[in-house]
Amino acid sequence: MTTKVARWTHAAGLAMEPVSLEPYRSEAYFELEKERIFKRAWLLVGREEQIANPYDYVVQEVEVAGASILITRDGKGVVRAFHNVCSHRSNQLVWNRKGSARGFKCPYHAWTYKPDGSLAGVPGEADFGGLDKANCGLTPVALAIWEGWLFINLSPEPEIGIEEFLGDFGKYLSGIRYNSAATPVVFTAEMKCNWKVLADAFGESYHIACIHPKTIGGIFASKDNASGKLIDAKFFGSHRSGSMYGDPDYVAPARQRLDRMLLNITNGLSQDVDAEAVADFLSHPAVNPARSNTWSLDVNWMFPNTQLDINPGGVITHQFWPITKDTSRYEARFYMPTPKSMRTRLQQDHFIARIMETVLEDLSNVERTQKAINSGGKSHIHLQDNEVLIRHSLSAVDKWVRSETVKEAISA
Ligand code: FES
Repeated sequence: MTTKVARWTHAAGLAMEPVSLEPYRSEAYFELEKERIFKRAWLLVGREEQIANPYDYVVQEVEVAGASILITRDGKGVVRAFHNVCSHRSNQLVWNRKGSARGFKCPYHAWTYKPDGSLAGVPGEADFGGLDKANCGLTPVALAIWEGWLFINLSPEPEIGIEEFLGDFGKYLSGIRYNSAATPVVFTAEMKCNWKVLADAFGESYHIACIHPKTIGGIFASKDNASGKLIDAKFFGSHRSGSMYGDPDYVAPARQRLDRMLLNITNGLSQDVDAEAVADFLSHPAVNPARSNTWSLDVNWMFPNTQLDINPGGVITHQFWPITKDTSRYEARFYMPTPKSMRTRLQQDHFIARIMETVLEDLSNVERTQKAINSGGKSHIHLQDNEVLIRHSLSAVDKWVRSETVKEAISA
């Protein structure tokens, strides 16, 4: 494989120059990210299938904004989002992460709310002296559903809608068929690092041969592509997508008997799942867009903090939620096709176990990276061409942080 130096970086409209470390360690920069990114951008919080039935609900914590968001589906199927805050004395209303309820009772003094957010009951109401119940419902939060994905926006009046926010990236990803979206396998971890250090760890494959030699190194790197060169990269305003290499001839070493039987990342996992659905999924233009026979996965990095990874076996979302400048919450969701046999089930479980081993290798590294960044030993980092998704992400973050308006942040 040959690559012109700076091919992808130039395609992204960026220059091959050192990148400042201040955005990874500056408290002032983090405050700007909080106000100008996480309180203004549309944030992906899950899939509609997670609240598939009337009265289902989920709670999403957005620590960077100090917010807890309650997302409900009412009896007529309408989905809404609210601040998870009681109107009486601002207790957190719902303490579970998900469930099904025809109403919500505050644990403090038992005010009750309907799934549409309206206030239903107040014990001892007469003693409030003419409480205006109609104005004491839950505070709404902007919510949008795009292709089955749930997004919230913490701005009281979002400047732009979800379609405009996603722009051409939305058109690019539109129409992908997501299997088994209602039953993801979820993994979360709180890490002592900036959210961008965490996101960067999942946004390039240059590190794979070095950090993951015993897990996926042999699959994602070979003598033909030893340093994880990208197969493809595309840039869409604040968003980006990159296609990673996989060795189609990879065979697990003889000593890894379980891998020999079960692990088949590059050629697909779905031997007995709905073949038509898998073919439909794989034929989408945004899935392996270069139509390469050495494709392993696409990293669709949705601004600011979501990577929607598409591989032959399904979809994984990696999310990187800031908590403080130096702490973040990582959340992975595996959306796998429903298996029809024990063999496929075993394959999928082994796949998830292997990916999680890999993720743990990544996570074990990020805290050391942050510590070293905070030491002040370096002022800049150096990104090579195949780390372009990171460079493009940092550029978009910086544009949002410096822009007075969202329109300006997404402008060409
Ligand atoms: Fe919720 Fe009092 S704070 S009922």
